[in-house]
Amino acid sequence: MDKFKCISKDEFDKLKPLAPEGSDWEKYRKHVFERMDNHELDIFVLERDSEFIAELTVNYVNHDLETETIPNVRVYLEAFRVRKNLQKQGLGQKLISFVISYLKDRGYTEFTIGVEDDNKIAKHIYFKYGFTKEIDHGEGTEFDPSSYTLYLLDLKEKH
Ligand SMILES: CC(C)(COP(=O)(O)OP(=O)(O)OC[C@H]1O[C@@H](n2cnc3c(N)ncnc32)[C@H](O)[C@@H]1OP(=O)(O)O)[C@@H](O)C(=O)NCCC(=O)NCCS
Repeated sequence: MDKFKCISKDEFDKLKPLAPEGSDWEKYRKHVFERMDNHELDIFVLERDSEFIAELTVNYVNHDLETETIPNVRVYLEAFRVRKNLQKQGLGQKLISFVISYLKDRGYTEFTIGVEDDNKIAKHIYFKYGFTKEIDHGEGTEFDPSSYTLYLLDLKEKH
C-alpha cells in the first residue's frame, strides 16, 4: 500500500533513485542535511513496498529568491519527482495534494513553485492546482542550474 510520509536524515539515501542523472549526491546530501538540521525544510515522499517512489521538498526559508517564502505564511516547493517508470499515473498529483493539505492544516496559505518554461507536464499540474500567478524568475541553483519562473498559489484568492 502507498503511504505518505515526511522523512528523516537516516532515510535520505533512499531518495537516490529519484535524483536527476549526474547529480553530485554526496554534496547534495551535505547541503540538505545542513538545512534539515536548521529546520529549513521537510522532505515528503510516497512510499511503496518500502521504496520511495515520489518526493517533494518543502522549504520554509528562502534558498534562492527572496519571494520564495514568508515565515508562517508562504512555503516554497521543490524537487518534485516521481520514479520514471511510474510517471503519468497520477502519483505526482497525489503527493502534491497531500503536501498542500498538510501545510494548509498547519496554517500556510501561500505556496510557490519554480518551473522551467518547457516542462509541460509539471506546468499542467501546477496550473491545475492554482499556481497561476507568475511572481519571479530565477537562474537556478548549484544543484539545478536552469532558469525558471516562480509561480504562486494563494489559497486566500481561491474560491
Ligand atoms: C513532474 C512529475 C513530478 C509529475 O508526476 P506524475 O506522477 O508523472 O504526474 P501525474 O501523473 O500526477 O499527472 C500528469 C498530468 O500531466 C498531464 N500530461 C501528460 N503529458 C502531458 C503533456 N505532454 N503536456 C501537458 N500535460 C501532460 C496528464 O494528463 C496529467 O494531468 P491530468 O490528470 O489533468 O490528466 C513527474 O513527471 C516527474 O518526475 N518529472 C521529472 C522531474 C520534473 O520535471 N519535476 C518537476 C520539476 S518543476
